[in-house]
Amino acid sequence: MKKIQDFNFQGKNVLVRCDFNVPLTGEKILDNFRIKSTIPTIKYLTENNARVILMSHLECRGKVYSLKCLIPELERLLNKKIFFVTDYLSKDARKKIEENVKLGGVVLLENLRFHGEEKNNDSVFAQRLSKLGDIFINDAFSVCHREHASIVSLPKYLPSTAGFLLEKELETFSILFSNPKRPFVIIIGGAKIKSKTEAVVGAVGVADVVLIGSKIGEVILAQKGVLKNREVSRVKALESVILDSKIINPVDGVFLSRNNVRTGPIDSLEVNENVLDIGPKTIKEFKEIIKKANTILWGGSIGVHEEERFENGTREIAQAIIDNKDSFNVAGGGETVSFIKKFKLEKGFNFLSTGGSAMLNLLNKKELLGVIALNNKYGN
Ligand code: 3PG
Repeated sequence: MKKIQDFNFQGKNVLVRCDFNVPLTGEKILDNFRIKSTIPTIKYLTENNARVILMSHLECRGKVYSLKCLIPELERLLNKKIFFVTDYLSKDARKKIEENVKLGGVVLLENLRFHGEEKNNDSVFAQRLSKLGDIFINDAFSVCHREHASIVSLPKYLPSTAGFLLEKELETFSILFSNPKRPFVIIIGGAKIKSKTEAVVGAVGVADVVLIGSKIGEVILAQKGVLKNREVSRVKALESVILDSKIINPVDGVFLSRNNVRTGPIDSLEVNENVLDIGPKTIKEFKEIIKKANTILWGGSIGVHEEERFENGTREIAQAIIDNKDSFNVAGGGETVSFIKKFKLEKGFNFLSTGGSAMLNLLNKKELLGVIALNNKYGN
């Protein structure tokens, strides 16, 4: 199997799929972890005299952002000028890139998701992207669970392999999941219901205890009939696991209606209220379980931690994890890692992953779609 070190990049255009989906306020980057994590791959390629063409998406809560706001940070980290290309599907895009960027230089393509074809895994779109490059490197571990054109189709058209980040993430999880020291506690939060459903199903298969918060917790509780006032569409895939005794749901929460915040038992949630955080009884119960764990995997925030008044649950859980000095602690995902960094808690974790859903999806999928696509290509 060919690894990145087995390729000759001299004089080549190398397309690199990154995940620069970083948390933003306005156009300001709140945390550069995902960008920084890809720098070793980019530097290796520029040092080997390739022309490096970076591709990514940047989307938050359904809003797709221009990648232009990432240029200053990329230029700072690489100490190089970045050539930004918006019309990369045009006939003369490759010529324009080669005329403007020397070998060893770096190009950034505008957000792939400005084209619906990316998410629709359109093969013509992937083929047109492939015309820009000679070799494809996937360094976007955190998007490898997505069946998108730049992840699963692009490797069909170019010699392809994994970047250093993707390789390291896969290696870490393969070792961790093959023989976790027990009790193995998995903590799942976040709002992406489809990805988190797969995560919950996978977690029940491998963990001893699965602690659940945030929106995915709400969906499970509503489906179990605990939240009588909450209408949610049933998620079929959850049916097989929601009654499993490994799953521990919140027993209380912090609720918001208009401007009124109150704490109460989870089954007292009213129609006009939303659950914004876990309550003190849940925190106590979760902390007791975390204290006894020997391996802890955490993906997804527990409450709406962007707002200070609802960050307490996430903060307490993060603190409980780092207080357990005997366990192997792993956390992953854009928002989770950004939270850990905001409170300077990194030292309490043995590994921080760039992927949230991708990391959790490894629990039941075993192999991510993007990696399968690369594997079919190894050796070319
Ligand atoms: C993430 O933030 O989890 C990855 O960038 C994937 O983003 P997505 O959920 O919008 O596909």
